[in-house]
Amino acid sequence: MPAALHRPEPVLRHRAEPVDRNVPSAQAAAWLRAGRSLLVTDRFGTGLDILAELRVQLHDPGEAGGYVEKRAFREAFQAASKNLLAPVVARKVALADAPRPGFLAELYPDHADFALPVEDAKVLSSAWEWYEQGVYFPVLGHRVHPFYGTYIPARMEHLELFGTWLAKYRGARDRAIDVGTGSGVLTLQLAKAGFKHVLATDINPNAIESVARQLRRLPTALPVELEHADLLGTDRGPLDLVVSNPPWMKGEVGRTLDLAMYFQDGFFERFYAQALQRLAPGGRIVFVWSNIIELSQPDVPHPIQTELDRGRFRLVEKLTRRVKPLRRRTREKVEIWELAVV
Ligand SMILES: C[S@@+](CC[C@H](N)C(=O)[O-])C[C@H]1O[C@@H](n2cnc3c(N)ncnc32)[C@H](O)[C@@H]1O
Repeated sequence: MPAALHRPEPVLRHRAEPVDRNVPSAQAAAWLRAGRSLLVTDRFGTGLDILAELRVQLHDPGEAGGYVEKRAFREAFQAASKNLLAPVVARKVALADAPRPGFLAELYPDHADFALPVEDAKVLSSAWEWYEQGVYFPVLGHRVHPFYGTYIPARMEHLELFGTWLAKYRGARDRAIDVGTGSGVLTLQLAKAGFKHVLATDINPNAIESVARQLRRLPTALPVELEHADLLGTDRGPLDLVVSNPPWMKGEVGRTLDLAMYFQDGFFERFYAQALQRLAPGGRIVFVWSNIIELSQPDVPHPIQTELDRGRFRLVEKLTRRVKPLRRRTREKVEIWELAVV
């Protein structure tokens, strides 16, 4: 089990001013924007109302907003909302209509009484719902129960496309790696496809915890080894497949979950260097990818095409599939890129 799981930071000391439903939400939101700290003292709903008002005052662009606009909103919202606190007593949010304790009990063994930003308490609560109910993955035929702070795919088409690729794969099935396993879906696809050994890495310890728990839920043991590590982790022998659904866009990483979405300079260079050292003869890199970078960041060099142009790898196959729009029309397509060492 990884040493330190990510969790919202407990607020152990504060000088927040009390607020309850007698304070208009608009007033409380304006105070937060001015940098004041507030402690909700009556209902959890009071905190949620203030957060909703804060979103309005900060002009939440919603899904319709562009990347820069959404990012700017998120930063402003995070800065202001972290000062709206909820009291936690005996590892429970001590407010009327508070969500169930859920992850509080296990994530805070070191503190019983503290405060948490209302937004964090809300995120912990919805994470608990996902964890308890699970998310059904048609490619697996069962639910996966993601632990708090673990990436959950918003769509399924890319996983189905990987399943299509995997069904056609005729190479060796001794050893595969899933780089950035998240909630573990590609790892489970590989293990179910008969790989004798699947290594799953993630830089986010919560993802490793998530997949460890998921493996324990399954009726049969799968040959999966987990490692909390950067990229390909420790060398355990030559790899037939290096599979990854890496971050699809370039960007700054603030929260842990940003690691699932945004890569930074050097990420792919290190990835290819490690893959070159570790691939077995005839081995493949298989990226689960999307054209989102071409659509939304046309100035960023394409991380796969740029590498192919260097001539160290050749493209064996590329699969493409349109995606159903999640909210509005989209030109987005998901892709599988299969690369072999030249
Ligand atoms: C887009 S998510 C994909 C998760 C999962 N494989 C899936 O397909 O749903 C990318 C994952 O890569 C992980 N990640 C990001 N940078 C990493 C790094 N340097 N080393 C290992 N994992 C990393 C993230 O934490 C995240 O879980």
